[in-house]
Amino acid sequence: MKAEIIRQLKETGGYVSGQQLSEKLGVSRTAVWKAIGRLRNEGYQIEAVRNRGYRLLEASDLLTETECREALTGRWLGNSVYCFGVTDSTNLQAKLLAEKGAPEGTLVIAEKQTAGRGRRGRSWISPPGGGLWFSLVLRPHIRPSVTPMLTLVAAMAVAAGIEDSTGISAYIKWPNDIVVSGKKVVGILTELSAEAQETHYVVVGIGINVNIAGFPEEIRTTATSLYLESGVFYKRCAIVAAIMKRMEQYYTTYMETLSLEGLRDEYIGRLVSMNREVIILKPEREQRGICEGIDRNGCLLVRREDGSVERVISGEVSVRGIYGYV
Ligand code: BTN
Repeated sequence: MKAEIIRQLKETGGYVSGQQLSEKLGVSRTAVWKAIGRLRNEGYQIEAVRNRGYRLLEASDLLTETECREALTGRWLGNSVYCFGVTDSTNLQAKLLAEKGAPEGTLVIAEKQTAGRGRRGRSWISPPGGGLWFSLVLRPHIRPSVTPMLTLVAAMAVAAGIEDSTGISAYIKWPNDIVVSGKKVVGILTELSAEAQETHYVVVGIGINVNIAGFPEEIRTTATSLYLESGVFYKRCAIVAAIMKRMEQYYTTYMETLSLEGLRDEYIGRLVSMNREVIILKPEREQRGICEGIDRNGCLLVRREDGSVERVISGEVSVRGIYGYV
């Protein structure tokens, strides 16, 4: 009901009477009034004027269940949404929900994370206000060995969703960092619950620097935000919605073949290091080569100096450009 009231108020742009809302929603005027109270508690500024009705004063960048539900237009991703003001980590919360049987497509979002997790055991700083910290629960009937490809699928969805909703060109640093103007704007952490041959669920955690206005000195050369790249302040729910729509599309394509065959060209089109010299950072030594794309399993193809091609498996080593991060 809250999402429907907000939709009505936004569509009208002016006053909508309590009577009109109660008729449209098929509920009593008291129920409308109570829902307006709950919306105000969520942060919406709704004016109430006698004999005129209700009017939405400010459509700010709220990251609430109501706002997300209204923005999400996909078929199944985000049908179940949990929004936290503060939580430890949306990945942890998504895993707890998945353990309790949360359906595929459950979306967990937080305004702030106190224990945001990054890859390789690192932490992910997740302040309130400018970031988009969220996780999805997926329940693919696939072998655990092929789940790493889902990270590449998610990277494509995030890059395309950012482009759809902001117009900013987004690229992928293999396997799954999203890069704008050569700097990292998104990190993705995929976690798995599985037995030998069976995947119980996958949690895909996505951290996007959306409206962040500045970064600490030590990461200023490698990290950026959508705001810093464009000078535009974005509505975060619209970005989540665009990503969810793309994720539905790419996930379906991936599940049809359980390979990246149908997505490879598009992935390569976004690959920031394509045809460029890269360094493979192996525990024993560094190796240089030219990036020639990915194979159908998501391995990075790197041509060595002797002409042979190395298939780099994601998660085993890291790869960077010869001049730094990309
Ligand atoms: C990386 O190290 O690049 C991956 C960072 C992933 C961060 C996101 S923020 C939402 C979700 N919850 C977490 O605790 N981590 C992921």
